[in-house]
Amino acid sequence: MSGFSSSTTSIPDAAKSPRHIAIIMDGNGRWAKKRFMPRVAGHKRGVDAVREMVSTCIDLGVEYLTLFAFSSENWRRPADEVSFLMQLFLKAMEREVVKLHENNIRLKIVGRRDRFEPQIVELIEQSERKTAANKGLTLTIAADYGGRWDILQAGNTLLAQNPLLGEITEDMLAAHLAMSYAPEPDLFIRTGGEQRISNFLLWQLAYTELYFTETLWPDFDAAMLKRAIDSFHQRERRFGRTSEQLTDA
Ligand code: IPE
Ligand code: IPE
Ligand code: MG
Repeated sequence: MSGFSSSTTSIPDAAKSPRHIAIIMDGNGRWAKKRFMPRVAGHKRGVDAVREMVSTCIDLGVEYLTLFAFSSENWRRPADEVSFLMQLFLKAMEREVVKLHENNIRLKIVGRRDRFEPQIVELIEQSERKTAANKGLTLTIAADYGGRWDILQAGNTLLAQNPLLGEITEDMLAAHLAMSYAPEPDLFIRTGGEQRISNFLLWQLAYTELYFTETLWPDFDAAMLKRAIDSFHQRERRFGRTSEQLTDA
């Protein structure tokens, strides 16, 4: 079991800081294009924005930060962009893991592993092992991740473990999702202006507060994250109940 009750059954308080923030880091290509630079220059700058988000989340006491880095659909991009992104992912991990570890950060990578080069898989496993016991921020990078893949792999894992299973419950499925170690996100942010989920955490976003901004990812900074969190604090999370039920409680 995940140890976390679903947000559809318990009510996290929006007045408190979000425990879990999940971000679709979009707009790198457009950021570069505006500057007459190749798209990949935007991806490179995007890594700087990641660093700023990690340190800001630590300062703000956020417990889980989840970043969508590469979707299961992003393989459809031109081969040279895909290969640049893979190299960038590899180099960023090689360079940053020691610092993450020093900062007590637990690193998790979620998504399919079988389409990555063995060198990347090896580094993912090493980095997760190295930081596994850290008790500070849990930083999750979703890479070759798709929400539909996640739900299916959870269901298939359950069936493989028990082929005679008659019924799958919400708790059973949630416990086998790639992010079963984390509570559901309180706040979802998407930069870059598009207002869609693009196959990110489909199951877990059921009652997450959504925040969209036109800001392109390389320009997204600490002040903008704080603005998103301020917006979160204005929300009333009802999970199907009435407003009166919440204030009476
Ligand atoms: C997000 O930026 C990064 C990845 C999907 C890897 P994009 O590359 O999608 O940037 P835009 O949306 O084309 O501007
Ligand atoms: C979503 O961005 C995935 C990541 C940021 C990793 P995309 O740029 O791939 O999304 P779509 O294709 O515009 O929906
Ligand atoms: Mg995009």
